[in-house]
Amino acid sequence: MKNLVLVGFMGSGKSAVGRRVAGKLRMRFLDMDAEIEQREGRKISDIFAHEGEPHFRRIERRVTQELAEREGLVIATGGGVVLDPRNVEDFRRKGVIIALGVGADSVLARVGQSAKRPLLQVQNKHEEVKKLLAYRDPLYRAAGPCVETDGKTIEEVAETVIALYQNHL
Ligand code: S3P
Repeated sequence: MKNLVLVGFMGSGKSAVGRRVAGKLRMRFLDMDAEIEQREGRKISDIFAHEGEPHFRRIERRVTQELAEREGLVIATGGGVVLDPRNVEDFRRKGVIIALGVGADSVLARVGQSAKRPLLQVQNKHEEVKKLLAYRDPLYRAAGPCVETDGKTIEEVAETVIALYQNHL
């Protein structure tokens, strides 16, 4: 079984949808952020605060290389995984990448208050989300077919993701 790899911005629903999809397909679910926290023995926000984003990206790169070699996983990636094109190439080799699309308003409504997103601990969250999204949205959409999530339930998104995955096997 090929891996099913979900990419998308913070708050696009990668973890919630991934978990639902994995349950329906009876595949194993793996959350990359949780995997990194477990391996490093601390929170992502701690890693950003003490070692900085470049260090986090190196860990993310290493974990990507490992996970991309495995099979049969539903993987919820971190929102920045597409910043390194090598990550996308690696995941594509043995997997199907599906992007989850989200607008700035939904991002803010879903994760705007969360302390778990170091990149959103800024004064003007709306501007920051718009700026990051403008840069990243094309990268998510270039990585694989995109499922829009604004105004949809987890169940609706999960069903569409499953249909796309099965079409791309
Ligand atoms: C990041 C997204 C986060 C996490 C880290 C960096 C990003 O994951 O990997 O805070 O660069 O967009 P989620 O997309 O699961 O929030």
